[in-house]
Amino acid sequence: MLLLDALACRNQSRPPVWLMRQAGRYMPEYRKLRQQHDFLDLCHCPELAAEVTLLPIHAFGMDAAILFSDILVVAEGLGFTVTFEESSGPHISPVLETTKQVDEIVVPNANEAFQYVADSIKLIKPSLKVPLLGFCGAPFTIASYLIEGRTSRDHKKTKQWLFRDPASFHKLLDKIADCSIDYLKLQIAAGVDAVQIFDSWASALAYPQFKEFSWYYLDKICKGLKSTGIPIILFCKGSSVFAPDLSKIDASAVSLDWNCDLKQMRARIPTNVALQGNLDPCVLYAHSKTIKHTVRKLLQDMKGDPGYIFNLGHGILPDMSPEAVKVLVETVQEGV
Ligand code: CP3
Repeated sequence: MLLLDALACRNQSRPPVWLMRQAGRYMPEYRKLRQQHDFLDLCHCPELAAEVTLLPIHAFGMDAAILFSDILVVAEGLGFTVTFEESSGPHISPVLETTKQVDEIVVPNANEAFQYVADSIKLIKPSLKVPLLGFCGAPFTIASYLIEGRTSRDHKKTKQWLFRDPASFHKLLDKIADCSIDYLKLQIAAGVDAVQIFDSWASALAYPQFKEFSWYYLDKICKGLKSTGIPIILFCKGSSVFAPDLSKIDASAVSLDWNCDLKQMRARIPTNVALQGNLDPCVLYAHSKTIKHTVRKLLQDMKGDPGYIFNLGHGILPDMSPEAVKVLVETVQEGV
């Protein structure tokens, strides 16, 4: 299979393509389901999660599926309430404000907290001819959601905590990492073929803090999964500057945002680490001709690389057109 070959850096064919947020609001079929169901109900109900996971595979034939869920189900597992508002995104309560609250967080039994995820995976797998990706959020990104209570622009409260009381911040990250290891092991046991860890907000950190509060826990999760042999993709957004450090973690691939030149980055990353990315999602707003041209340029840059996975630098946005996604996928699959 193309994706698994590329993750092992031994793909001799065209690069595999899948897209972050490939199952989402840009698809009319998804919007129709969302009229009937709350977002988290879609995540919690195995039949619905399976149906949504398969939507883009049936519509566009990507080379991998990604489990339909959200990184914030881990916050639920840790005892927080998560809601999604149409206009303002996720809300977490209670907001994490005290060290006492950190001490009270209990890492759940993953089989009890996330059984529905295992059930979703078991439903999806038999219907798929391409690999299925599982995922979780990185501890720093999840910690930011717990402390800010929502998506934050500056991550001010998170960084205040980290600088004022690093010990309890580490305690929090450690609990999230332990929960994430158990959660990913549950996904692996249920049948996912590879996993991606999303550190969407690591870009908020200066380099020394990145190493201490983000890198260390990504490394911990990868070490915790070592015995499973699962391929792991590390995603950083707005932080491709950290890619060479991420490649020192024992993971299969690093997924890059659109800020960096992929070909130049390749020269700085060991050849046994696969690279994923990094088309600016906004290219999907362009005319077909421009989409094709831009995709081919990237394919040309990475031509012959046995460890290259085509993806966007971040997720597809809700107002992008399914037709544009179709053009992108077809162009990659035609090859150069
Ligand atoms: O990629 C996929 O198709 C798989 C499913 C997936 C979702 N979220 C579905 C989703 C994955 C892998 C995620 C990861 C996720 N969730 C991240 C990391 C990646 C990134 O985007 O940086 C983060 C930070 C979140 C948290 C989150 N979930 C936010 C900030 C939002 C609101 C923003 C938005 O797009 O509405 C969500 C909601 C969400 N997660 C939706 C989907 C399809 C939209 C919900 C809806 O239908 O209203």
